[in-house]
Amino acid sequence: MKIAVAGATGAIGRSLIPLLVEAGHEVTGFTRHPLTAARLAAQGAKAVVLDVFDREAVFAALREAEPETVIHQLTALGERDFADNARIRTLGTRNLVDAALAAGARRMIAQSISWAYAPGEGPAREDEPLDLDAPAPRSGTIQGVHALETAAQDMPEAVILRYGLFYGPGTWYAADGYMAEQVRRGALPATDGVSSFVHVDDAAAAALLALAWPPGAVNVADDRPAPGGEWLPHYAALLGAPEPERQPGAARGERGADNAKAKGLGWRPRYADWREGFAAALERVE
Ligand SMILES: NC(=O)c1ccc[n+]([C@@H]2O[C@H](COP(=O)([O-])OP(=O)(O)OC[C@H]3O[C@@H](n4cnc5c(N)ncnc54)[C@H](OP(=O)(O)O)[C@@H]3O)[C@@H](O)[C@H]2O)c1
Repeated sequence: MKIAVAGATGAIGRSLIPLLVEAGHEVTGFTRHPLTAARLAAQGAKAVVLDVFDREAVFAALREAEPETVIHQLTALGERDFADNARIRTLGTRNLVDAALAAGARRMIAQSISWAYAPGEGPAREDEPLDLDAPAPRSGTIQGVHALETAAQDMPEAVILRYGLFYGPGTWYAADGYMAEQVRRGALPATDGVSSFVHVDDAAAAALLALAWPPGAVNVADDRPAPGGEWLPHYAALLGAPEPERQPGAARGERGADNAKAKGLGWRPRYADWREGFAAALERVE
């Protein structure tokens, strides 16, 4: 199948491109940088250098690639630029969807998040509403996610992957990542807020399977939603960081995500439990 991947060089893209190529697909990947284009080409994809905010360029690239499916893994979180990330979710997604429709694509698989649900009891299921009444600053995240998911649904078929928190190589939770740095500095308290995690390789594997999933939203998160009081001391110990300070309470919507739907669709994460995944991802850290 002809597939175009926007965000082909990010945390998920890096794992996903080889999976798509190995599965026999004809893959076009987008990046803004000629140097990373060379890496994409080495992975077996056709690389196109463009900025997703350049609407004309996105139209031209998708017209040329003629994909049946467009995979949207764009974020601006590598630089922790939340304003740019909101623009990517709104404007970037709009450009991508309009260009995909003009190029005759049928399906979009789009990266969303699993912590945007309205407050409720226990891990959230896909049929629960997003937290559209959230106050600022959470409202900014929710509006961006809502715009992304709504635009993607303009496609004849849209699969929305609501991912848990990414960990593994190249993420904020890697040994050299932003979160590891915060924890080493003792700057992250262990709260009662519940999070769901997913290893980036398992996240990429879900995007591959989603080529054949029915349209709709799917939580892609591991089996073990956990409060900060549980996962953070474990993570800190693996990093050799100080024991995190305990702080009772949770932020709005920190409830984790139920992954029964993804499992029912055949997703089998290699790391179903972050305790094993963290250990594997951080094994070289003393
Ligand atoms: N669910 C989660 O927990 C979650 C989700 C997303 C991110 N994050 C965190 O953020 C970190 C960075 O994520 P990431 O690697 O996905 O982000 P990233 O490095 O900022 O970029 C992701 C992808 O989007 C592309 N991109 C960004 N802006 C673009 C633009 N204007 N036009 C075209 N392409 C554009 C990048 O391509 P080029 O740079 O090659 O142009 C890259 O392929 C992760 O490692 C993770 O820790 C977490």
